[in-house]
Amino acid sequence: TDPLELQAVYDIMRATGNEWAESIPDVCRSRWHGIECLPDDDGGGALHVVSLSFGALSDDTAFPTCGSMNPVISEAVTKLPRLRSLFFYRCLDGNPQEIPRFLGELGSGLRNLVLRGNGHVGGIPEELGNLTGLEVLDLHGNDLSGAVPASLGRIRGLRSLDLSWNRLSGSVPSVDFPVIRVLDLNGNRFAGALPIRMLSSGDALLKVDLSGNEFSGGIHGLSALKNLILLDLSYNELVGALPESLSGLASLQALILAGNPMAGAALPETAFVGLSSLLVLVLSDMSLEGPIPRSIGELKTLRVLRLDGNRLNGSIPESFSALSRLSELRLDSCRLTGPIPFTGEMISRMGRKLRLENNLGLCYGGGGIEDDLMIADGIPRCDTLNGRPDVEIERLS
Ligand SMILES: *[C@@H]1O[C@H](CO)[C@@H](O)[C@H](O)[C@H]1NC(C)=O
Ligand SMILES: *[C@@H]1O[C@H](CO)[C@@H](O)[C@H](O)[C@H]1NC(C)=O
Repeated sequence: TDPLELQAVYDIMRATGNEWAESIPDVCRSRWHGIECLPDDDGGGALHVVSLSFGALSDDTAFPTCGSMNPVISEAVTKLPRLRSLFFYRCLDGNPQEIPRFLGELGSGLRNLVLRGNGHVGGIPEELGNLTGLEVLDLHGNDLSGAVPASLGRIRGLRSLDLSWNRLSGSVPSVDFPVIRVLDLNGNRFAGALPIRMLSSGDALLKVDLSGNEFSGGIHGLSALKNLILLDLSYNELVGALPESLSGLASLQALILAGNPMAGAALPETAFVGLSSLLVLVLSDMSLEGPIPRSIGELKTLRVLRLDGNRLNGSIPESFSALSRLSELRLDSCRLTGPIPFTGEMISRMGRKLRLENNLGLCYGGGGIEDDLMIADGIPRCDTLNGRPDVEIERLS
């Protein structure tokens, strides 16, 4: 081990309460789980520390944990010029502290900075924008507050940004990350318009989770995301309407928009046409009105469909009977009427994951093993209603 780096590792280990490391004369050679070294580029003898990891990630990945006596991240990390990865998982949470500004001094060499569930308080230091070589920045599950510094926009090669489960606020800075694949801002207090600039970064994006914030305004600017697999914008304050078409999102497997107060918006008949990979569509609790688009029944790949808690009316489209992969369907607490177009096979396949209760007036054909399920939800047999179901509904309501 390079002698200066050896000393730095001792300092870092001591600061985290791992004094035992000082009895190891050559940390790179007699290495523990959680330190990685590589030789000089020129093939010379010295080994350099490239990765340090702390925290009990899982039962079989036991990196050194932090001691209970006020552990800290030592400034000695800046004396590891080859460091590419710094990883702390639930290590410093017993001694809440700010993310140290000196981490910015690691400069363009650092690729991964993971400070997950690590008890950090205060703001995200502007200096992290100096880590211009970062590919992964993961600050999930801390107690960070304040705004995201615009300096992060300098990190042009960022592939994954996870700031989820903090108390970050303000609008997201108008920056873009040209090769970003994962953007997770879930569970903060971000407000203002959706971060369109970040979302139009490029077609590298695979996963976007902005749920559980206070984003407002309309949903737009998503059409270029042709490789996107997951889009979760749920539980924000997005209003307006759904775009007429989301068909640019050809790879999308999960679209989750629940809990946005789209008061009175209707679902455009064509909104979901062409989403040929969609497995999960969740539009619960959005105050949607009007009929359910027939075209949803053409999403043959759907496994989970939730439209509950809306003011959707009319009948369940016949086309739903073609959703042969569906394992969960929630249409409860709407204003639906008329016969349920499902076969007994579909009803028993979904079992308790078929939810139809609390509608204006649905009824079912009856006469099969599905009777118990329907009756438990208070859905009557159509032939027990006098005359046409919709007439009966008017009488009931
Ligand atoms: C790091 O970033 C801060 C603020 O963004 C800046 O003032 C400082 O000069 C930078 N330091 C280096 C070494 O680049
Ligand atoms: C559904 O509700 C809308 C108002 O939101 C109303 O104009 C329409 O007539 C209703 N349709 C049916 C079939 O009840």
